[in-house]
Amino acid sequence: MAMTPADLRVYDDESALASAVASAMASTIAEAMRRRGRCFVALSGGSTPRVLYRTLAAEYRDRIPWSQIDVFWGDERFVPATDLRSNYAMAKAELLDLVPVPANRVHPIPTTHESAAAAADAYQSRLHALLGDTWPRFDLMLLGIGEDGHTASLFPHSPALHARDRLAVAVAPRADGEPARVTVTMPVILAAYNTYVLATGARKAPAIARALVSASLEDCPASALRHSAGTVTWWLDRAASQSTNN
Ligand code: 6PG
Repeated sequence: MAMTPADLRVYDDESALASAVASAMASTIAEAMRRRGRCFVALSGGSTPRVLYRTLAAEYRDRIPWSQIDVFWGDERFVPATDLRSNYAMAKAELLDLVPVPANRVHPIPTTHESAAAAADAYQSRLHALLGDTWPRFDLMLLGIGEDGHTASLFPHSPALHARDRLAVAVAPRADGEPARVTVTMPVILAAYNTYVLATGARKAPAIARALVSASLEDCPASALRHSAGTVTWWLDRAASQSTNN
């Protein structure tokens, strides 16, 4: 597959970074509206996107056609929607309760099924139903990166990395006390028209450097983004960009 050259955007701090990403999102969403009259966005989890979601809610309530956007998640922890670890709960509190996305256009990864595997099946059916039977292509896929190079909930050396015939899979708990997870698969990520990877802090610099230059899918799942069918933009603060010569 063709190699997608890395597009790095580096900002002094997370506030400047969030402002730049929010502005770019508005353009990417407008492009999707021109392309297909609607827009499918997959939100990322973890803590990094919180400032971005707050910026979108505060400054883009009237500058993005929220009523035309279908909101999904790239991954979710298999915990109740009220749990502080829930990616859905964070996005709901910081963004979705504050902008006019219709409730029927918000598609959380379900976490009330009897298992994460059943939840993955249900989410996969929802993706097929809404994004069509061909391979679903998100207009915008937001991702983070872990210090180990994981993205979404695709972790190094995980069987989930090799799921090719599924849109979503369950991921077993990584350690005692940690929840199982549900994640979209790498083919779904790589099919996105536009992917934004957001990362801040020096702790992420080594994983970002590995993802950009060498590393294998097994050792650093985020390195697979170089094979994306769409655009990939790395949105970093200065600390996270330390090892990328930018
Ligand atoms: C999750 C995320 C995960 C996250 C990275 C970075 O559910 O945890 O999807 O891939 O983006 O772990 O997390 P932080 O933003 O908290 O550093």
